[in-house]
Amino acid sequence: MLWLYQPAAYCLLPTTYCKTMGYDILSKVIELTDSTDALEKRLKDVANLLAHSFVFDQCAIYLLNQEKHILNLTVAAGRKKGCKAEYKENEGLPGLAIRNGKPVFATQAMPAKETWQGVIDKGMNGYKTIVCYPIKDDWLHGVLYLKNKRKKAITHKQKRLLNVITLQLATAIKNYQCIVNLKDINTKMQDMQARLVHAEKLLALGELAASLAHEIRNPLMSIGGFAKRLYQQLGTDSPYIGYIDRIVKEVARLERLMDRIVHFSRESRSVFSVEDINGIIDEAITFFEEDFKRSGITVVKELSIGMPKIEVDRQQMRLVFNNLMTNAIQAMTKGGVLTVQTHQDGNWVVAEVDDTGGGIDPKIISNIFNPFYTTKESGTGLGLAITHSIITNHKGIIEVNNNIGVGVTFIIKLPLAGKEDRILEAS
Ligand SMILES: Nc1ncnc2c1ncn2[C@@H]1O[C@H](COP(=O)(O)OP(=O)(O)OP(=O)(O)O)[C@@H](O)[C@H]1O
Ligand SMILES: [Mg+2]
Repeated sequence: MLWLYQPAAYCLLPTTYCKTMGYDILSKVIELTDSTDALEKRLKDVANLLAHSFVFDQCAIYLLNQEKHILNLTVAAGRKKGCKAEYKENEGLPGLAIRNGKPVFATQAMPAKETWQGVIDKGMNGYKTIVCYPIKDDWLHGVLYLKNKRKKAITHKQKRLLNVITLQLATAIKNYQCIVNLKDINTKMQDMQARLVHAEKLLALGELAASLAHEIRNPLMSIGGFAKRLYQQLGTDSPYIGYIDRIVKEVARLERLMDRIVHFSRESRSVFSVEDINGIIDEAITFFEEDFKRSGITVVKELSIGMPKIEVDRQQMRLVFNNLMTNAIQAMTKGGVLTVQTHQDGNWVVAEVDDTGGGIDPKIISNIFNPFYTTKESGTGLGLAITHSIITNHKGIIEVNNNIGVGVTFIIKLPLAGKEDRILEAS
């Protein structure tokens, strides 16, 4: 007996052979797969259509997870019984269809069997007719798995029709994946554009700040110099000595800020030399020895022996570790542990500075590398901005691992001497 497919309700009417039936099914498959619905909904509609049109008790579509080499059950229509949730890439009849790149037509006398021609497939249990089509074009996307409880002949025309249908499914899946990838790329591009605009703003801000710093530096030095002279002349008994002392201190703070701004705007030229990162870190730790003692901070050094050399500006790199260690000391006012670690990771030399100062509030973490962003009363907010600009000038990467309530780890990755260009090309 042959069946006529009625697209409106997916119902089938017994009829004599109708030439248009195949075209009707195909055009409905095209209509369903070309819709704007989510991929799963489209596949579900197609599975329903195929189960009804070809009169199968069950129609399942498995999509291939290319990374895990597993076929995952994505949609199923009809009876749910015996519908395995997943197949390994080479397991059962779906595995056979994938291996051969051809459909498998299995029929068996006993419906309670799980084996057909030596292939074990638990999904076969309870079914007498199984049709398994790979969904593929130039790429393998999954498997169409049809089952019937009774023995059923598949005509040559039906086979050809299923061939075209699975090809249409493959095209729909590929198009959908292309759109997903395009959306992903678009999001990344928008993100990059936003970063670029931000970087341009920072550059403009840096240039403005540098020219202002130039203008302010000289008069500031005069104010500071005169204030110091007044301080000496008035003597400690003067009622005005407190004001003068304040002027001297504030001027010193402003001078430090001006120095940092000039540095930030990269006025100072980089002088590169081949250096040992452990030596630079050791120097920084020694520099802060008194501060560590005063603040009750234990320093744990985990510097790997035989670290490869890096090509850096030694002074700038010292400044990087100075800034990170200063922040760590300021975060661990009640004592704590500062762990400094180095290791090699491929073409990168990695240094980590970890503290137990309680971490950074997640609300502000996106700002910490922005110039002039500070949560400290006397901070300039330039420490991490300078650190970031030094590391990127060295073609390196700086990352922050924030463990709220525990502490922060700053991770610095610098390219091995001579590997900078290769790394940039690869990234
Ligand atoms: N190790 C840390 N633990 C907790 N918060 C941190 C740490 N490092 C940085 N921060 C946060 O990031 C902000 C920006 O740090 P940055 O070093 O740029 O400036 P600053 O320390 O405030 O001032 P400056 O370094 O110029 O004196 C800090 O104000 C602080 O809120
Ligand atoms: Mg700082």
